Amino acid sequence: MPAVDTAWSIERARALDDEDALGGIRHRFLRPDGLVYLDGNSLGMLPTGVPEATRRVVEEEWGRALISGWTECGWMEAPERLGDRIAPIIGAGPGEVLVADTTSVALAKLVGAALAARRDRRVVLTSADNFPSDLYAAAGAARLQGAELRVVDRSELPAALDEDVAVCCLTQVDFRTGELHDLPGLTAAAHEVGALALFDLCHSAGALPVGLGEHGVDLAVGCTYKYLNGGPGSPSFLYVREGLQGELENPLPGWLGHETPFDFDRRWRPAEGIRRFLTSTPPILALTALDAALDAFEGVSIDTVRAKSERLGQLFIEVIDDLGPASLTVASPREAARRGSQVSLEHPRAGEVVAAAADKGVVGDFRSPGLCRFGFAPLYLSYAEVFQAAELVSAAATSLSD
Ligand SMILES: Cc1ncc(COP(=O)(O)O)c(C=O)c1O
Repeated sequence: MPAVDTAWSIERARALDDEDALGGIRHRFLRPDGLVYLDGNSLGMLPTGVPEATRRVVEEEWGRALISGWTECGWMEAPERLGDRIAPIIGAGPGEVLVADTTSVALAKLVGAALAARRDRRVVLTSADNFPSDLYAAAGAARLQGAELRVVDRSELPAALDEDVAVCCLTQVDFRTGELHDLPGLTAAAHEVGALALFDLCHSAGALPVGLGEHGVDLAVGCTYKYLNGGPGSPSFLYVREGLQGELENPLPGWLGHETPFDFDRRWRPAEGIRRFLTSTPPILALTALDAALDAFEGVSIDTVRAKSERLGQLFIEVIDDLGPASLTVASPREAARRGSQVSLEHPRAGEVVAAAADKGVVGDFRSPGLCRFGFAPLYLSYAEVFQAAELVSAAATSLSD
């Protein structure tokens, strides 16, 4: 943190902007005037290269190359090529990440693959605070294989890990509170009982260093429309540790995951490596937008992103503490190391706080019954914006407390 050690002020926030190593990245996004966008944990901002890249692919590739685009324009390889672009952001290696499907579908596929590979174990373990779609998808995948989804309180996870568990399926950052869970510790605990560790990285990818390889995580999924800025409904990614790929079967095999799709062979023969987890034709227009969006990460260290994310969150919390009414309380962990890139605040009239802040140009979101969520995307936010947002949110809550 800088030398200035006074209460927060716009000058102090601007001093941080002056020395911000990521300050030069902000122009890589189309930032609407007068808006402080704190909802990048739901939908990332539009990177500047996306409109031209999508125009080019629509008009020049689809429009002119037509069917030959599949071979001449690199469309067929896009799921793996983009996977390799995401890999360094989440600490994976080349050939370990594939972009396909949606997070829920990818999760169901990997849970299914894990259960099929561990036939002597019939439990998928998860925590009750997991994202509901993960619970539905994991339960569905388990049901199809005569297995059970065991849902426990987070505090009970270590005790619930036993030798019946095939895969422990968790989300690294809690979507409600922004709490960052212990990925290395939970992975090691799963491995101790011979289970696989599967993480949902929706709220981590592009916001913090995940270190999949470093921590020996087996499987992961995540969306690309939050901190990776791929656009509304952009495809998800899935990760399978290299050493495990030959052992796992895609439970939803499709022609493009076949070793030789254009032989139209009746028998299923999986492609080598991560490609076997592909099922269907890649959505080229969506992948084009994602590809251009990933340019925003060029030359950016994820450790630098994390350092700024922690500071933005601390600034926001400290200003809310100073200026907010007593009814506005911090629901996220206060310690930056235990928090993802989001700060959630509790207020009895949370929906109205979010709406009043939005009227003043601060976009966050509301989660029933009483949470205001604010996400901090370090690539496009400035410290001054976050300071102003905290002032406006405090003022909105104060006016509702009167
Ligand atoms: C943590 C988490 N998991 C899963 C999902 C669902 O993703 P999808 O709509 O790509 O299936 C979301 C969506 O926001 C999410 O936040």
